Amino acid sequence: MKSIKTVGHAIFVIFILCLSARCCGQEDLDIAPMEKAEQEALYSTIQGFVGNSWNGSDLYPDPCGWTPIQGVSCDLFNGFWYVTVLNIGPVHDNSLSCAQDLEFRPELFSLKHLKSLSFFNCFQSKNSFPATIPARNWEKLASSLETLEFRSNPGLIGNIPSGFGVLKNLRSLVLLENGVTGEIPSSIGNLVKLKKLVLAENYLNGRIPDVFDGMNELLIFDLSSNSLSGSLPSTLGSLTSALKLDVSHNDLEGTLLKEFANLKNLTLMDLRNNKLSGGLTLSLQEMQSLEELVMSNNPLGGDMRALEWENMKNLEILELSNMGLTGEIPESISELKRLRFLGLSNNKLTGNLSPKLETLPCLNALYLSGNNITGEINFSKEFLEKMGRRFGAWRNPNLCYQVGVISTNHVPYGVKPCQREVNLLESNSKTELINGDRNETFHFIVSKGFSSSATNGLWWTLMEEILMMGLVLIILI
Ligand SMILES: *[C@@H]1O[C@H](CO)[C@@H](O)[C@H](O)[C@H]1NC(C)=O
Ligand SMILES: *[C@@H]1O[C@H](CO)[C@@H](O)[C@H](O)[C@H]1NC(C)=O
Ligand SMILES: *[C@@H]1O[C@H](CO)[C@@H](O)[C@H](O)[C@H]1NC(C)=O
Ligand SMILES: *[C@@H]1O[C@H](CO)[C@@H](O)[C@H](O)[C@H]1NC(C)=O
Ligand SMILES: *[C@@H]1O[C@H](CO)[C@@H](O)[C@H](O)[C@H]1NC(C)=O
Repeated sequence: MKSIKTVGHAIFVIFILCLSARCCGQEDLDIAPMEKAEQEALYSTIQGFVGNSWNGSDLYPDPCGWTPIQGVSCDLFNGFWYVTVLNIGPVHDNSLSCAQDLEFRPELFSLKHLKSLSFFNCFQSKNSFPATIPARNWEKLASSLETLEFRSNPGLIGNIPSGFGVLKNLRSLVLLENGVTGEIPSSIGNLVKLKKLVLAENYLNGRIPDVFDGMNELLIFDLSSNSLSGSLPSTLGSLTSALKLDVSHNDLEGTLLKEFANLKNLTLMDLRNNKLSGGLTLSLQEMQSLEELVMSNNPLGGDMRALEWENMKNLEILELSNMGLTGEIPESISELKRLRFLGLSNNKLTGNLSPKLETLPCLNALYLSGNNITGEINFSKEFLEKMGRRFGAWRNPNLCYQVGVISTNHVPYGVKPCQREVNLLESNSKTELINGDRNETFHFIVSKGFSSSATNGLWWTLMEEILMMGLVLIILI
């Protein structure tokens, strides 16, 4: 009993001590000084970006103290304030906004605890005030810098400095939507702690360097919308943690990688709008975590049946339009129970359309136009009603729909009715016509006349029409 009381008392005392310590700590924080050198370096750096009219005089005693400013964060190191985050650009109303003719001052590299540096919507004019990223001095930030981001800066031109390669602690390197040109320096392969590498929407050209073998912590890899050429580097297969791989909208050629099979955690792969060829590689079916696979607009070629699609059970979006794919649409696609979007337009697909596709519970877009799929569309009325215009099957000259099954409103756009119905007309469609909707009947006739000349002789077509007219007359009378 006594010992419990003692322990309780001890805990109480410790609690009080903690509280007061924290209060004292708080006071310390507020009055913590900033070294003069650090403050001068910070002010000069900010002036370089914001303009000389900014002098920080309204900040007492410094931007880390009582009057913090948007975009600047500080931390205590050995009792002194140091800047750790510098965000330049109009993120918030009261952010540091950029001067037109902003410059990187050398003092930037004296901010020895700088962890995060970012520029948003800052370098605006490519013509009047172009700016380049400093080539040198990055080694001074090497031990601290974890995040370096430039977003939406059209006036930021020049190359990616190969000096970035010294930033060994970098977790995030983002150069998104700037005017950056030239090749990606191979020193980027030194950045083995990167989790995010985004160089999208610039004017980068040349090959993608084959330097990713150390980057097994990378989660996001995005080089999309540049002018990169050459083949996919095989060390992309070392990005074993990657969730997203996007090299779309470039001029990449060559084949898909067998090393893709190593990307066991990838959820999105976007290779669209390139010049990749050589067919579907088996490595694709090993990427079993993929949720979105987009490879449209590549002259890839190859037979769709080459893959065991049923292995890719997590697929939700499969966009393979305009890839020169041949063969039939494999039945195994209908085992991808999470599939929401299936795009196979403008290929050279043949064979019949399996009605099993309609058993996909989540499917809400199915585009098959511009192929040579043949035979009848045997989807149910319910399925076609659900899909509406999100079922596209036009420009398949030998594909047709069964007339009795589908109501006028849900006839697949650009698809003709089946001939087979015509041959059965005399035997069983009379009752159908009598019981059926008149408007549908008319539509039926109109479509018939429109489409049948393609396959049957003219005489047969005429005969059909006369026969049909006769029937309709009888009904109307
Ligand atoms: C700082 O700028 C303010 C106006 O923005 C001005 O009144 C003040 O004199 C300047 N201080 C220095 C040291 O330049
Ligand atoms: C893949 O994801 C799983 C689950 O999120 C994780 O445990 C595993 O470490 C990841 N693999 C790699 C290579 O990152
Ligand atoms: C569609 O249905 C018709 C008649 O029921 C059948 O002959 C044909 O094989 C079916 N087509 C497909 C692709 O299942
Ligand atoms: C489409 O397929 C049919 C046979 O299934 C074939 O006769 C025809 O030539 C093909 N059309 C084209 C444009 O390949
Ligand atoms: C046929 O369609 C017209 C308008 O499109 C509609 O007013 C009429 O009721 C329809 N007739 C039948 C029998 O459904």
